[in-house]
Amino acid sequence: MHAYNGGARLLLCSFKLKTFYCSLIAFVVLSCIIFFQWHYVSYFLRPVWDTPPPPFHYLVHYYSPNLSIPELCSLHGWRKRHQPRRVFDAIIFNHELDLLEIRWRELDSVVSKFLIVESNTTFTGLPKPLFFAANRHRFRFADLGGRIIYRFFPGRKLRKQESPFEIESKQRRTMSKLLAESGIHEGDLVIMSDTDEIPSAHTIRLLQWCDDIPPVLHLQMSNYLYSFEFYVDKESWRAAAAVYRRGSTYYNHGRKADTILPDAGWHCSFCFRHIRDFVHKMRGYSHADRVKDPSLLKHARIQEVICNGDDIFGMLPEEYTFKKLVAKLGAVSRSYSAVNLPGHLLKNPHRFRYLLPGNCFRELS
Ligand SMILES: *[C@@H]1O[C@H](CO)[C@@H](O)[C@H](O)[C@H]1NC(C)=O
Ligand SMILES: *[C@@H]1O[C@H](CO)[C@@H](O)[C@H](O)[C@H]1NC(C)=O
Repeated sequence: MHAYNGGARLLLCSFKLKTFYCSLIAFVVLSCIIFFQWHYVSYFLRPVWDTPPPPFHYLVHYYSPNLSIPELCSLHGWRKRHQPRRVFDAIIFNHELDLLEIRWRELDSVVSKFLIVESNTTFTGLPKPLFFAANRHRFRFADLGGRIIYRFFPGRKLRKQESPFEIESKQRRTMSKLLAESGIHEGDLVIMSDTDEIPSAHTIRLLQWCDDIPPVLHLQMSNYLYSFEFYVDKESWRAAAAVYRRGSTYYNHGRKADTILPDAGWHCSFCFRHIRDFVHKMRGYSHADRVKDPSLLKHARIQEVICNGDDIFGMLPEEYTFKKLVAKLGAVSRSYSAVNLPGHLLKNPHRFRYLLPGNCFRELS
């Protein structure tokens, strides 16, 4: 009896000891993971700590190449105008020359003025060449009739504690001023989007030719990563078109309205020709804090990530529900479709090869 009791006690004790050690080890391991991979953990828990933006009101977007303007306006419940609105395309330019060419060619037939602000530093304050100014000859087609309005933004190093977002918002204020000075009138249409958020010409033509459109309308675009080979989803929403009102139309890249027009263009993120452009972008933009580890910038790693459709920062998708987050875990799957891509891209398949499916290898320099 005694012996049995003693044995049981010993067993119990070692069991407790094991639990204790196991818990301790688990605790230490978990703390390490949380400490070193905090961005990972916080992204994973985003559905818990972050609330999604309020939902959009979706218009139905009708389009077929064979429909006339009166038919298109009428399908949307709008009236056709006697005169098209003038269109002002406004972008803050970094270094995406190829995408800029594809964008401006796409919008060539609908845009009255191309407004462009360019700085000699990135949002993070690193010096950068004036890529547009140095390559302006590539854009003679857009310059016809003096359509390009260019403004240099003098950059500088970030002050201590200053966030790149502050420089970004200064550049956006510069664009608002440039707009006001560009000869724009009330009722003209302004496209506000980044260079890599390209509205389709037919979408802008619709907004230009129809009355009664919402005064501010977000343009929903298909998200692509690295090239049109990796289709992510159709939920890019930051681009917008606004009917210009003096004193109330300001240039920004955030949520401006509740109404959104689906399938209005293409958003190609990190769609660059050279590996060095990836490095430039990773170090230069407002989320540069994501570059935690310099090995992220190694060329071989970047090339591998591009061909796999993996996340360039090694991060988790930004999602607000676990369901969507889990659905998007891992690499983006490869697409074999080059249907309904920007016309200028498909007309120059050799020059822009790297943007088409099946060509993930990038030039080094
Ligand atoms: C497009 O419209 C033209 C002229 O209205 C017509 O001849 C042609 O058959 C149409 N094409 C399609 C595919 O519907
Ligand atoms: C950017 O331009 C401004 C104004 O010309 C100049 O003062 C500044 O030194 C330049 N910065 C860099 C990094 O070239």
